[in-house]
Amino acid sequence: MKGIQRTEFFDREKEKEEILHILRQEPQEINFIYGPINSGKTSLITNLIENLPDDYVVFYVNLRRKSIIRYEDFIRVLFAIEEGGFLKKIKNIFTKVLKHITSTGEKTLYKSHGIPVDKSLLETFFKEKSNEDVFNYLVEYFKNIAKHKTPVLVIDELQMIGDLEINGKLIYKLFNFFIGLTKELHICHVFALSSDSLFIEKVYNEAILKERCRYVLVDEFDEKTTLKFLEKYKVGEDEQDLARNCLGGKPGMLTSFINTSNRKDFVEDVLTKRKGDIEELIFSLEDKNTAMFEKIINVFKNFINAESVKYKYITDEILLLVGENIIFVDPYKKIMRMQSKTDLLAVREILKELK
Ligand SMILES: Nc1ncnc2c1ncn2[C@@H]1O[C@H](COP(=O)(O)OP(=O)(O)O)[C@@H](O)[C@H]1O
Ligand SMILES: [Mg+2]
Repeated sequence: MKGIQRTEFFDREKEKEEILHILRQEPQEINFIYGPINSGKTSLITNLIENLPDDYVVFYVNLRRKSIIRYEDFIRVLFAIEEGGFLKKIKNIFTKVLKHITSTGEKTLYKSHGIPVDKSLLETFFKEKSNEDVFNYLVEYFKNIAKHKTPVLVIDELQMIGDLEINGKLIYKLFNFFIGLTKELHICHVFALSSDSLFIEKVYNEAILKERCRYVLVDEFDEKTTLKFLEKYKVGEDEQDLARNCLGGKPGMLTSFINTSNRKDFVEDVLTKRKGDIEELIFSLEDKNTAMFEKIINVFKNFINAESVKYKYITDEILLLVGENIIFVDPYKKIMRMQSKTDLLAVREILKELK
């Protein structure tokens, strides 16, 4: 048995430099950080903000951490607060926090709590039923911080608000707020992270964000980086090949791989599991919706000999596969590919067996 070794954050120099370059400039645009599931978006941004100089104050909001807050509550609370008295109350708390930020000179990272600064404050928010717009207040708040430091707002798992009627007011308000902070007032950097690139595209099209945002792709490790990563953890050549051929460059998978006691079994298990998941999905469709089943098989057939495929437009079957996290779409390059190397191998095997 190998002992548990802590894997350190690895590489990402290029992506870091790209984001640092953005941070060095005046806030201009909303930055969308996108890439396949487990490609390392959250790790990258977390690592980056942990190492930022003290001139930055980072507000990190992860919409997926429902144990802390339900996202509906969060949005409702954060962006629609009525009652003047209550507004005054949060104003006082914010002022206190602001004093703290500016006096201690410490870099402050409100991880997972978001803009309001502590859990108890958030809980207070939840209890208040109110509708008055709090954006103006938050703008003032960021303006104040911006006098001393550079605020950075990071919204992770942005797609979690996807069901909050994208045509409705909330998403518009949210993005208008972001645009206000960036393009108009230049007071706060805004980063939105998501694996769901189609959601980003939808926001892009519907919230009329054109020319107001920038896209940063955080992809899996490329071949060279994958190899370096494996070499760093002294993985032998045979196992290097096993990892590269079956897991590709997905950092999370590679981390599990190096830490596992039996790497061959690990890879086999991962493949079996993914194959089973995908089979379950498509074979459940075979009876329910034969036409869709066939369309999906046709999408899969694109990947018999290719790893990435150009598409003309997003069909219902692609949409379904994206929603099921089997396919990743890069809407800017109009390219689709499997969410992982493992998925690619699983799908190829399924097709072989279908014949
Ligand atoms: N640069 C990296 N170096 C080492 N491990 C990483 C790196 N990026 C990601 N990982 C590993 O991969 C896992 C998934 O990454 P994560 O950032 O959560 O992906 P995403 O946010 O894109 O879904 C992490 O928990 C971490 O173990
Ligand atoms: Mg993430």
